[in-house]
Amino acid sequence: MSNNNSLPKRERWGSRLGLILAVAGNAVGLGNFLRFPVQAAENGGGSFMIPYFIFFLLLGIPLMWIEWGIGRFGGKYNHGSTPGMFNLLWKNPTAKYLGALGLVISMTILIYYTYIESWTLAFSFFSINQTYFGLDSHNSMREFLYSFQGKQTGDFFSSLWPAYIFMLITFILNFWILYRGISKGIERLAYIAMPLLFIFGIILAVRVIFLGTPNPAIPENSVANGFSFIWNFNFDHINQPRIWLAAAGQIFFTLSLGMGAIHVYASYLKPKDDIVASGLSTAMVNEAAEVGLGGSIAIPAAAAFFGVTLTTQIASAGAFDLGFVSMPLIFEKIPLGFVFGTLWFLLLFLAGITSSVAMGQPFIAFLEDEFGYSRKKATIILAGIVLVSIQFVIFFLDKGFLDEMDYWAGTFGLVVFALIETILFMWVFGSKKAWDEMNEGGDFRIPKIFFFIMKYVTPVILLCIMLWWLVQDAIPILLLSNVESDKVPYIWGARALMIVITILILFMIKRAWIKKAQVNR
Ligand code: ALA
Repeated sequence: MSNNNSLPKRERWGSRLGLILAVAGNAVGLGNFLRFPVQAAENGGGSFMIPYFIFFLLLGIPLMWIEWGIGRFGGKYNHGSTPGMFNLLWKNPTAKYLGALGLVISMTILIYYTYIESWTLAFSFFSINQTYFGLDSHNSMREFLYSFQGKQTGDFFSSLWPAYIFMLITFILNFWILYRGISKGIERLAYIAMPLLFIFGIILAVRVIFLGTPNPAIPENSVANGFSFIWNFNFDHINQPRIWLAAAGQIFFTLSLGMGAIHVYASYLKPKDDIVASGLSTAMVNEAAEVGLGGSIAIPAAAAFFGVTLTTQIASAGAFDLGFVSMPLIFEKIPLGFVFGTLWFLLLFLAGITSSVAMGQPFIAFLEDEFGYSRKKATIILAGIVLVSIQFVIFFLDKGFLDEMDYWAGTFGLVVFALIETILFMWVFGSKKAWDEMNEGGDFRIPKIFFFIMKYVTPVILLCIMLWWLVQDAIPILLLSNVESDKVPYIWGARALMIVITILILFMIKRAWIKKAQVNR
């Protein structure tokens, strides 16, 4: 192991508050405000919340500490990305290649996430401008969205240019922040974006609460019924595995676990900085944003105007329908709706951008740490890869390109990666060493029960989820069992892109280690 005193000085977070805001920003994202309501509505509301909280305790919190622990440990030896970190945990040449997943997943998510994020910016603009005002049904609003996305030629947008321009603006903003670095870029963004996000979220949630029963003639369509749909815990659907899988998937995505994104932020800590309280507080901030705000806006608002039954159907119809179709219809119906609409989409944009920069940082850190590239060079290389790849996502959106990437990188991959890192840290590196590493410098000690959870419970649950997914989803998806024939070539295209990214990263890891071996000789 190289002597860490001789390593170049790493960038550092400016302050503890800045760090917590940045990691919370990493976690709080589109997942909290778009994905969570859809998952909750689709999976039985109060039934979904039971596995959701169980997995928060048994997967979310332990993995958060594990990832902070691995990340800070890697940072001590100047590794900000998982190939270098895994190589420290396991003295085996394969370890660094397993760490490639932390780069492949974050980069793949970044590619499609940036595009979704750009829709939120576009819709903020359409809200101020009242572009969609006058559309009065789910069908017409959906046509508006689809025509903007180029999925459907409609009367609203004659080309993809508007979507493309908003993508470029979003892309430039992301890479400008990444270029400015950890404390001047990402941390400053978090200082501005996180408080604003919470202010916008609180304003919207309060406004939603006051919606009451918008149409007294239909008393069951009320905000109260929307809230009780989520908060009346019930066991109605609890025996369905899909609810459990959906809850686990949501916990991963929302907390940015299994992506390499938490590790990289933790790598900029000092070796004795606390991670116990910081890790826990970021998980808590994320949950406050997710269940507190995310759960108090889209579902109750939709329940008030359209009723709980229709809300669940809307959620099942498409991942973006609640946020981009139902919400705009509601904004049209309330006084000063264009202001609330703008706040809603800006909230999504702020949530998105604080997460997307976190997806970009692992690969940048990899180029800086393992190849000694300057931040500028690293940022330009990543920007080039993303700009080329995002074209496919934009132009083949209707062919399922984005969904395919989201399944493998944003759902299945997270669990696989989390399982690997848990085994490496708690079993190969050693549970005692891992435990001491996580507790080092802690404001308090992690409750002892989590030792047992991290070592046994978390990996067993991960293994079960992975196997279940493999059988139930991954194999049919892999074999394209339910795909329309015209989409098949594009799905293969999405896979080819992910394979190319993986090969590229594996090759780069190999190069980096050969180079290092030559330097050390
Ligand atoms: N954790 C991020 C989100 O929820 C990826 O969107």
